[in-house]
Order: sequence, then C-alpha cells, then structure tokens
Amino acid sequence: MPYVVEPEMLRQLAKEKGYLIMAHNYQIPELQRIADFVGDSLQLARQAMETNAERILFLGVDFMAETVKALNPEKKVVVPVLCATCPMANSLTEEEIAKAKEKYDAPFVVYVNSTARTKFLADYLCTSANAVDVVRNVPSDTVLFGPDKNLASYVAEKTGKRVIPIPGELGYCHVHNFVTTAQVRKLLEKYPDAEVMVHPEVPEQVRKIAHFVGSTAQMEKYPMASSAKTFIVVTEVGMAEKLRALYPDRTFLTIDSMVCYNMKKNNLRNTYRALLSDGPEVVLDERLGEKIRKLVEDMLKLTASTHVGKK
Ligand code: 13P
Ligand code: SF4
Repeated sequence: MPYVVEPEMLRQLAKEKGYLIMAHNYQIPELQRIADFVGDSLQLARQAMETNAERILFLGVDFMAETVKALNPEKKVVVPVLCATCPMANSLTEEEIAKAKEKYDAPFVVYVNSTARTKFLADYLCTSANAVDVVRNVPSDTVLFGPDKNLASYVAEKTGKRVIPIPGELGYCHVHNFVTTAQVRKLLEKYPDAEVMVHPEVPEQVRKIAHFVGSTAQMEKYPMASSAKTFIVVTEVGMAEKLRALYPDRTFLTIDSMVCYNMKKNNLRNTYRALLSDGPEVVLDERLGEKIRKLVEDMLKLTASTHVGKK
C-alpha cells in the first residue's frame, strides 16, 4: 500500500480491476473527480440499475451503498469504510414505526436516508428529489413519513396532504437541521443579489427565505435557469465544490458549519486500499434487498417525471 495516493493511481487500479466508481455529491472533490458517476440519491439509484460493471466501488454513506447492493445482488459492492453512516437514517426505529402504524391507518413513505430494516416496513420509498411527487401520487390523503421531519414539512406544504412525521421531533439531519436564518441573512447582507438554494432537509424557516428548494442534483441544474452571479448554497459544503467546477464564472458561498463528517470519512487512501483488497464489501440480507428493489421499482413507476424543487 503506497503512503501517498495520487488520484491517477486510483483510476488506473479501478480500470485494471474492472470497478465502476460511483460517488455522492458530498464527497471530497478529489474523489468526485476520479468517479465514473457522481450524483444525488435518485441519480445514484438509477445509475445502479443500469450498470453492466461486475464490481462497484461506492463513495458515500451506508444507506446509499445498501441501495446499490440491493439493485445489484450478484455484484460485488465495495466501500472504503463501513463506518460512514447517516445518523438520521439510524434515528427511526422499528418500534416507532409499529407505534405510528397502530395509531394511524395510513401508508408509510420512507425517505431513502433510512436503514434497510426501516425500508422493509415501508409502503413507498422516496428521495429528496421526488418526495413531493411520490406523496402526491400515493392514493391517500394522510401518510406517515420518516425519518426527516423537515422534508415531511416541505412535502406537506407542497402536496396539501396530512404528512405525519415519524419519529417526529427527533427525526432530522444534524448537518441541515441546525442552520439558521441568521447565518443565511448574514451572507445576504454582504451579497444582497445572491440567490439562496436550500436542501429540503433544512428547517421550514430557512426554507421560507430561499429562492430555490431541491435535492443536490436539482441544485446542480438551478444556476442554468438563473441569471444570478452569486448563490448561497445551504446544504453540505461538498456540493458547492461541485457547483464551482461546473460554473467557474459564478460564485458559490457555503455555510461553513454544514459538514457531514460521515461523508468525509472516505479519502484517497482508504479508497485505494478498498480497491486493492476488494473490501470491505457491502453485505445485505436477501429479504431486505428484495424489498428495497421493489420499493425502488415502484418509486420510479409512481413518479413518471422527477419533481423539480422550485418554490
Ligand atoms: P440528495 O439525494 O439530495 O443528494 O441528498 C442526500 C443527503 O444525504 C442529503 O443530506
Ligand atoms: Fe445523513 Fe445528513 Fe450526512 Fe446527508 S448530510 S448523509 S442526511 S447526516
């Protein structure tokens, strides 16, 4: 194992060993650059359904890698570390779901940022890109929705349906939930012409002062439709790195507290080691994998066209 790993060494090794490299938009720029495909959760799931590669190296967090594995049960899916997880996904327990199901006679729509066991108990699946479309198309005026309470609130606002968040107050992403309007307004004072783009995982009061609400992939498209020169990117800081590379003539400002340390656990060195040793490998119970596959297929059928998160 070399001490210093250059991005080119990674590309070379991946090619030699037949790996497709998939990465989420929050990965460090060096990893985004060596990936064959970079996207949001929905794009990554779609890409995972289409690939012919026998081996996949996934750069993101565990629930995303599990989705890729569920869609590719016969393939080897490798990650740099198994401990890159999503605390929000782990916040919804089977007991909470059972309690909610007992109390309300309503279908359960699970956000893809959830564990495989949680998904096993769900009726519908959504990502941040299509949550509004999914809930709109669910044949019920009331839905249980979890684990993100902020996404639940956004979906309720857009669909007019009764969206019951589970586990409620404790279901949030620690990276997005604690951003404040004061942090955004401070940047707006300095850059009054800037447009504010937010991820739907931010709290309602921050969402209300945004020009645009959308998933990371939808944020990627937004500057094309806007004449603004400066954007305040209210999501994990890795997204702004991607936007800067895509739009070199625009300015993208970040909220510096918004770092997902789990996404940042992957680096050039542990990625190289994973390729070298073909592991650690993502292992998924077959029954759970089957359920996730069905949820993804149903989700894509339910949403003929992806919701564009415009306010
Ligand atoms: P996207 O699917 O919008 O990329 O979001 C994933 C995520 O983890 C947001 O925190
Ligand atoms: Fe989970 Fe938040 Fe990190 Fe996204 S940013 S992976 S929701 S902890």
